[in-house]
Amino acid sequence: MGCIIETKDLTKVYDKTTVVDHLNLRVNEGEVYGLLGPNGAGKTTTILMLMGLTEPTSGTATVCEFNSTREPLKVKRIVGYMPEKVGFYENMTSKENLQLIARLNGIPDSESEAAIPEILKSVGLGKIGNLTVGKFSRGMKQRLGIADVLIKKPRVAIMDEPTAGLDPEGINHILELIGGLPKLGTTVVMCSHRLYEVQRICQSIGILSKGKMIVQGSLDQLGRQALTNGRYQIELKTVEPGSQVAEIVKKVKGVLKVDVKDGTLLISSDSDLRVEISRAVVQNNFTLTEMKIQEFNLDDIYMKYFNEG
Ligand SMILES: Nc1ncnc2c1ncn2[C@@H]1O[C@H](COP(=O)(O)OP(=O)(O)O)[C@@H](O)[C@H]1O
Ligand SMILES: [Mg+2]
Repeated sequence: MGCIIETKDLTKVYDKTTVVDHLNLRVNEGEVYGLLGPNGAGKTTTILMLMGLTEPTSGTATVCEFNSTREPLKVKRIVGYMPEKVGFYENMTSKENLQLIARLNGIPDSESEAAIPEILKSVGLGKIGNLTVGKFSRGMKQRLGIADVLIKKPRVAIMDEPTAGLDPEGINHILELIGGLPKLGTTVVMCSHRLYEVQRICQSIGILSKGKMIVQGSLDQLGRQALTNGRYQIELKTVEPGSQVAEIVKKVKGVLKVDVKDGTLLISSDSDLRVEISRAVVQNNFTLTEMKIQEFNLDDIYMKYFNEG
């Protein structure tokens, strides 16, 4: 899995204010990458620079080896982009809008003719008939925005707050669609200020605050960095008293610390030592009844950064 989107010290200054600050973003092919941060963090500005729609003050953005600033047309050709505010021809139906988009993207009518009803159905707009887009609700326009991305079958989809304006049911539906895109060959970058949706569908997460990337990686990596000082925490229970087992576990190579609390061993290490620890326990004739590695909640991670400023 290679890196498909990369920025190097990407920076944007508006009127002496740095709104994107030396951003080093890396998105791997085949993943859903979530750019997370509060309003004003610089998410939209970053996306505009990725798309070549805004010029960086310094630094570079690369999408599939094309420089976003110097080769914006090549970038636009391979990316399906869903802007913060989707725009369509209001006096046309959803089908007509999609047909036009297909044509603009060089997809012949013979192909789009069959694809459009399927796509409209998949985004939940299958039953609206000939209603023109001017009469659509915000949520319906969002759904059409997703359809716009889907019709291109792009190598990369870049989506700016794709669930904005949707009700909870609509959000679930759209998240499922987006989460399924890598299976169809599309790598996704989406930005959002909603934690739980990023946690649900993104394999990689970057947290942006005041234009700076404060942490980037998988949820596990983020959690370890934010909450446990880079360490792994393993919990272990045995039939035998924890204090006896602790002596054995302490001798396992890589174990940094063992505490016993209510009979449960709390083990701290700098790599995932579940295999080594369970082997040592069993080889010393203790009976293992439970073992788990600490899992992280994005809420806790996010709060940690935004409470401590
Ligand atoms: N065209 C612009 N001119 C001046 N300031 C801007 C412009 N676009 C965005 N900003 C400012 O840049 C900051 C980041 O905005 P934005 O990228 O839209 O954040 P987000 O999408 O994370 O909410 C905000 O403070 C915003 O006011
Ligand atoms: Mg925004």
